[in-house]
Amino acid sequence: MNKAAIAVLVSGGGTNLQSLIDAQNSGIIKSGEIKLVVSSRADAFALKRAEKAGIKCSVCERNKLTKAEFENAILKSLYENEIDIIVLAGFMCILSEDFVRRFPQRIINVHPSLIPSFCGKGFYGLKVHEAALSYGVKVTGATVHFVNEIPDGGRIIMQKAVEINENDTPETLQKRVMENAEWKILPLSVEKVCKEIIK
Ligand code: GAR
Repeated sequence: MNKAAIAVLVSGGGTNLQSLIDAQNSGIIKSGEIKLVVSSRADAFALKRAEKAGIKCSVCERNKLTKAEFENAILKSLYENEIDIIVLAGFMCILSEDFVRRFPQRIINVHPSLIPSFCGKGFYGLKVHEAALSYGVKVTGATVHFVNEIPDGGRIIMQKAVEINENDTPETLQKRVMENAEWKILPLSVEKVCKEIIK
């Protein structure tokens, strides 16, 4: 195998997807290639980013399908495109045990806190930063990890810490965690895992 075929699963803005596209263009990601973007929402801005980059897109709308139909539609897309590694980049759906077990050590996720803090069911997007601020921690960050059957419970690949400022709001903190941590460690982790796969 020359390069690992990457699928990126998204639900929203797609800034993490953009960080992967940019890293591919700049050569930070060289052991893999983004072959497919799957969105759980038809209106996700991430789809525009993928189209602009010339990447094939597939929409599997979570709110129009049962969970089984939704996962089967994603699986079909993944198999049709012979995907080797799946990156959850702002993908706001929890995958079933059955789905996850099909791809051991082949699904990776970015989470906007230092796991094991502020993670698991119910902790996603801005809610994670609201929880960090209301607890009063002074340092937070981001984690990239393998996905297993426990939400946010798989083996950690990389983490990066980010300091919390006194005047932070969930929005300012989210922005700083993205810029200083997520957009850096996600591409580096994807390259690391792809390099291992093609060995
Ligand atoms: C990111 O902060 C990502 O870490 C988080 O949602 C945001 C999506 O932004 N993901 C989770 O909370 C998953 N548990 P994006 O669509 O701009 O990449």
